[in-house]
Amino acid sequence: MNILIIGSGGREHTLAWKLKQSPKLNKLFIAPGNAGTADIGTNIPLDVNDFNAIKELVLKEGIKMVVVGPEDPLVKGIHDFFLEDALLKEVSVIGPRKMASTLEGSKEYAKKFMIKHNIPTASYKSFTANQFEEGLQFLETINPPYVLKADGLAAGKGVLIIQNLEEAKKELQEMLLSAKFGSASSVVVIEEFLSGIELSCFVLTDGENYKVLPMAKDYKRIGEGDTGLNTGGMGAISPVPFVSEEFLEKVQERIIEPTIDGLKTDQLPYKGFIFIGLIKVGDDPFVIEYNVRLGDPETEVVLPRIKNDLVELFEAVAKGNLDSLDLQIDKIC
Ligand code: AMP
Ligand code: GLY
Repeated sequence: MNILIIGSGGREHTLAWKLKQSPKLNKLFIAPGNAGTADIGTNIPLDVNDFNAIKELVLKEGIKMVVVGPEDPLVKGIHDFFLEDALLKEVSVIGPRKMASTLEGSKEYAKKFMIKHNIPTASYKSFTANQFEEGLQFLETINPPYVLKADGLAAGKGVLIIQNLEEAKKELQEMLLSAKFGSASSVVVIEEFLSGIELSCFVLTDGENYKVLPMAKDYKRIGEGDTGLNTGGMGAISPVPFVSEEFLEKVQERIIEPTIDGLKTDQLPYKGFIFIGLIKVGDDPFVIEYNVRLGDPETEVVLPRIKNDLVELFEAVAKGNLDSLDLQIDKIC
C-alpha cells in the first residue's frame, strides 16, 4: 500500500520510521516532511492545508492511506474533504473529521463536551467581546493564579497564567478587545487553576473500539531546571514514573471511557488519535485539554514501544474493527 503522511515534525519522522517497518507498505510519501523523513520516504513540498494539492498527489501516486500529523488540516476538515470527493472517498484517512476536531479547535467546545459527559476538568466560564465587563467581574470573584485561554488555535501560545488581578484584566482586554491572538481570542475561556503534574495520554480509536497507547510526559519550559516560557515540548519520556496501575484505572474509567462514549452520543465519528492532556491533582486525573492528533515530541517515545505493525493498526481503524487486534506494548523499552 502507498501511504502519505502529512506534516513535518519529529512526530511525522517517527510515524515514517514505524510505518516503514511494515511489510504492507509499498511507497511512503511525506508532505512536506523534513530532513529525517527524507531518509525514509519521499518528501513532497506542499502546504498541509492545500487540500487540492494533496488530492493531486494522492491520485498521481495511487495513495490508499493518508495519516494526518498536525491539527491544522484536521480542524480545517481534510477528512471531510476526502469523504466528499468521489475520487478520494475510498482513501483511508487517519485523523478525525472536522466536527470532532473542534475538540482541539475550540477550547470552549471541549469544555462543554467535558461538562456534558461528566469528565473531570477545571471549572470555567467563557466570554466574548460583548461580555468583557462580565469577564472583569468574574475575575474579581476567583482566586489567583488566573488561567486565560484563547478559544481557538494559537500554536500553543494562547494560554496565559497570571498571578496579578490587574494584569489578568489587562490581558483579558487585549485578548477580547484588541485581538491579541487574532480571531482565536474572540472567545476567552477563564478557568480554575489546577495544581499538579501533567502527562499525555494517547488513545487510538475507530469510533467504536479503542486502544490506550503508552502514557508519556513532555517537558515544555525552555529554561534549565524547568524554568521559563512554555515551548511546544522539547523532550519526552515513556513510561511515566508517577503513573501507577491505580491511577491508570482512574484515567480509564473517569476519562477515556466517557470520552469515547461521549463521541458516540454526540454523533462525532472519530477515526484516529485522541491526545488527552492530563494533570494529576493529588491522586486524581483531570483533563487540561483535548488534541485530535499525536503529540510532538511524545510520539518519539510512544510509537517505539508499540510492537504491532502500525499499518495493520491503521487498517483496522479505517475498517472499524480495531477490536480484532491486540495491542502489544514493550514494557521496558
Ligand atoms: P493548554 O493549551 O490548554 O494545554 O494549556 C497550556 C498549558 O497551560 C498546559 O500544558 C498547562 O501547563 C497550563 N494550563 C492550562 N490550563 C490550566 C489549568 N486549568 N490549571 C493549571 N495549568 C493550566
Ligand atoms: N507536546 C505537546 C503537543 O504536541 O501538543
